[in-house]
Amino acid sequence: MENLDWKSLPFGYMKTDYNIRCEYKDGKWGELQVSDSEYIDIHIAATALHYGQEAFEGLKAYKGKDGKTRLFRWEDNARRFILSADGIKMAQVPVDKFREALFRVISLNSRFVPPYGSGATLYIRPLLYGSGAEVGVKPAAEYTFIVFVTPVGPYFREGIKPVNMMICRDVDRAAPKGTGIFKVGGNYAASLRAGIAAKNAGFSSAIFLDAKTKKFIDECGPANFFGIRDNSYVTPRSGSILNSITNRSLIELAQSLGIKAERRRVPVTELAEFSETGACGTAAVISPIGKIVDPEKNRIYEYCKDGKPGPVTMKLYNKLTRIQCGDEPDDFGWITLVD
Ligand code: PLP
Ligand code: COI
Repeated sequence: MENLDWKSLPFGYMKTDYNIRCEYKDGKWGELQVSDSEYIDIHIAATALHYGQEAFEGLKAYKGKDGKTRLFRWEDNARRFILSADGIKMAQVPVDKFREALFRVISLNSRFVPPYGSGATLYIRPLLYGSGAEVGVKPAAEYTFIVFVTPVGPYFREGIKPVNMMICRDVDRAAPKGTGIFKVGGNYAASLRAGIAAKNAGFSSAIFLDAKTKKFIDECGPANFFGIRDNSYVTPRSGSILNSITNRSLIELAQSLGIKAERRRVPVTELAEFSETGACGTAAVISPIGKIVDPEKNRIYEYCKDGKPGPVTMKLYNKLTRIQCGDEPDDFGWITLVD
């Protein structure tokens, strides 16, 4: 793609050449199909449309200095996709089929993999939905699995520059024993009111608290939360957040750098104790947080007072992104070469 301005790509949709589709019918998956259409034909009574039977994943392909395309921990996404499907009683996509779909969709759209050093990556979006017709509330008998790709820039426009976030107390994204641990569309629909309220108030994202007590931090919109204090990387343990693959990687990287890692409940009041805070995820990578406002409690927590990310955040960001694009050896076995 000679005439694409990779450096200014937003995190958004762009048409690419092909997507992959596969149908589940009569209790089994069919063959993968290649499509050049951006549209789907869907039954008016499909369970996805009425009862929210839909799950998705998000991962990225990174181009290295050597011209090779790399996937980061794709098997973890495949496993989480299975967990999400099971969480809302959908047919599960086997790991092998997931892998084959990823590899084919990347190679069919190889001209859209952003060049090394451009700051952009190829975002891969697998999705699965109930396509069979039902009117009663029950799981569909038929499912459709699709994988499309789109080249993207950073999710938070600021990139590695600090963003401001707002604690949201009047909207819950997920109930304590609900679907928060699954990557299902309904959670994102439930988060929209808070996301829009935060944007309208001038913030990059809402921060959700645990729905039951409102005392503990859950996550930051579409990313997990972390805080740094006394050489510790602290991140919430919660039964209603997504188990972020990026966060799990940062825990391992922190430990490898001699930083202690703690996954535990994080009281909102502890925000005053952190020297750095951030949001992490595939789309967000690591976004340092400059300011967290808690309007209902009339509190403001400030970090990065010089406008720059903190030293631990920066160390983790560099380590993670260098492994992802192949600038540093992959001691953890996270990278799979696609070509
Ligand atoms: N939390 C939510 C709600 C998300 O949508 C995502 C994105 O996938 C994450 C956290 C980060 O997860 P991961 O690092 O696996 O992309
Ligand atoms: C991701 O990080 O891959 C996500 O899915 C976040 C998002 C919903 C845009």
